[in-house]
Amino acid sequence: MAILITGGCGYIGSHTCLELLSAGYDIVVVDNYYNSKPEALKRVKELSGKEFPFYECDIRDEEGMNAVFAKHKIDAVIHFAGLKAVGESVEKPMMYYDNNVNGTLVLWRAMKNNGCSRIIFSSSATVYGSENASPLKEDLPTGAVTNPYGRTKYVIEEILKDICVADKDASAVLLRYFNPVGAHASGRIGEDPNGIPNNLMPFLLQVAIGKREKLSVFGNDYDTHDGTGVRDYIHVVDLAKGHVKAVEYALSHTGATPINLGTGTGYSVLDMVTSFERITGVPVPHVIAPRRPGDIATCYSDPSKAKELLGWEAEKTLEDMCLDSWRWQSQNPKGYDE
Ligand code: NAD
Ligand code: UFG
Repeated sequence: MAILITGGCGYIGSHTCLELLSAGYDIVVVDNYYNSKPEALKRVKELSGKEFPFYECDIRDEEGMNAVFAKHKIDAVIHFAGLKAVGESVEKPMMYYDNNVNGTLVLWRAMKNNGCSRIIFSSSATVYGSENASPLKEDLPTGAVTNPYGRTKYVIEEILKDICVADKDASAVLLRYFNPVGAHASGRIGEDPNGIPNNLMPFLLQVAIGKREKLSVFGNDYDTHDGTGVRDYIHVVDLAKGHVKAVEYALSHTGATPINLGTGTGYSVLDMVTSFERITGVPVPHVIAPRRPGDIATCYSDPSKAKELLGWEAEKTLEDMCLDSWRWQSQNPKGYDE
């Protein structure tokens, strides 16, 4: 029995590979290195002490994907491979629809061709859009998304739901991530963004290490406790463990099941900055800047369905998120480019 991981060389994928290996699963990884480097999986092998097959392959390459399935008996797929930059998706919508939506269609065909009908999909809290109030529950309406990236996640969820209606063997666990941060406690694997980071934590880390001068806090006039945006930050190792539980669920259930992976607690931008400074002792120069278009005031999960169905809940604290992020950043100031 083996689990195929698409995009397994990326930030969340590499942490999930490690947790699956620790839980005793055999894994096979596919990635095209579009947004990752071979060093990440080299370090996963070091940390786990285990070897596993890797294929440099684009998920849209149907022949290549069929060859991977022909070589291994795959019981379920965790599907991380995708593009994730919101701003870029507005500039290049076709690239996002082709990679994310078309990529998932090709992947599913290759799976079915080879007798595999269980998928765990990396969705996002973004599918809840701007019209629902937090805490966000899985049965709320989805789809009022504000950018092509979010739309790909929504559309893929709908496609997988339709497939599960038509195909009684199919199982799709739609994991809606909130805001992943942090790194493995070893400091050996973590997030290695290309260019200027869009997300709060990677930007904050680059300011803390002196690579960038200051953090812009996007808006301080939101209807939140201190006026800055509130999000549900979740440690990537907790998130990775959620995937191990989701594999167990997908192997024993059919149908499409959306599940939030979050902590249920919201922190503001200023909470994150002041906590990081207090916990690590490292200053983060910051200024208040205008709101970022498309941002909402508050977004956090109701995490009870994950607890009920998967027996999973986040365990790591904000202190772990800050310390582990900083360990990764300070030990690897150039990411995987040593
Ligand atoms: P990442 O970019 O670090 O990892 C994605 C991996 O997929 C990369 O290694 C990339 O090279 C690979 N990839 C992309 N397109 C591919 C293709 N066509 N064929 C093969 N490999 C391909 O991103 P991540 O943060 O680890 O996110 C993983 C998934 O989770 C993505 O689908 C993302 O949209 C989703 N997600 C991420 C966040 C977040 O904040 N990080 C939040 C919600 C959802
Ligand atoms: N922020 C700043 N300064 C920065 C970056 C971010 O103040 O330099 C603020 C944002 O305005 C927001 C908060 O920090 O209030 C979090 O912003 P992120 O960009 O880190 O995360 P988002 O919540 O905007 O989006 C993330 C992922 C999306 C995903 C979404 C799901 O990037 O892919 O979570 O909730 F869809």
